[in-house]
Amino acid sequence: MAQGDKQQHPSGDNRFKLLDRAITKHQGRGDALIEVLHVAQGIFGYLENDLLIYVAQALKLPLSRVYGVATFYHFFNLKPNGEHTFVLCMGTACYVKGAEHIQTALEEHHQCKFGHTTKDNKVSFITARCVGSCGLAPVAVLDNQVVGKLTPEESIKRVEQLMNTPLEVAQ
Ligand code: FES
Repeated sequence: MAQGDKQQHPSGDNRFKLLDRAITKHQGRGDALIEVLHVAQGIFGYLENDLLIYVAQALKLPLSRVYGVATFYHFFNLKPNGEHTFVLCMGTACYVKGAEHIQTALEEHHQCKFGHTTKDNKVSFITARCVGSCGLAPVAVLDNQVVGKLTPEESIKRVEQLMNTPLEVAQ
């Protein structure tokens, strides 16, 4: 899968293209691991297994080393606590188009700050940098599904749907 800057994630997820750019910038050097993981977390909100495997292959590092670094540093989140994730893009295009209002509306509605999980453990609210779909700004990624042109009202509705969706159906 990983061939320097030629790699392409089979999911077609645009976020991997952004990650590829960061990897290319560091010329796929293994000593850029921490920086690449930072970029990955900024794009995806947290470092799920698939992402760690992708980074390991792209940087030609043993997966054990990538896991080791990702688990050693407290600033890396390996997974959210909630059953579902709402990753709100706070990149420039989304910010300009009102992502901040979405954040405020959701925080008030659910009494839960971004960076945290609702009390019932249903949804983790996470922010990310550009997720690669600027034309649809403002954008959020709900359980890996990109949803664009969001409004605060629509976001609240979507999160409520998410909370009522059993995990196995949502994925
Ligand atoms: S800034 Fe949000 S998708 Fe690019």
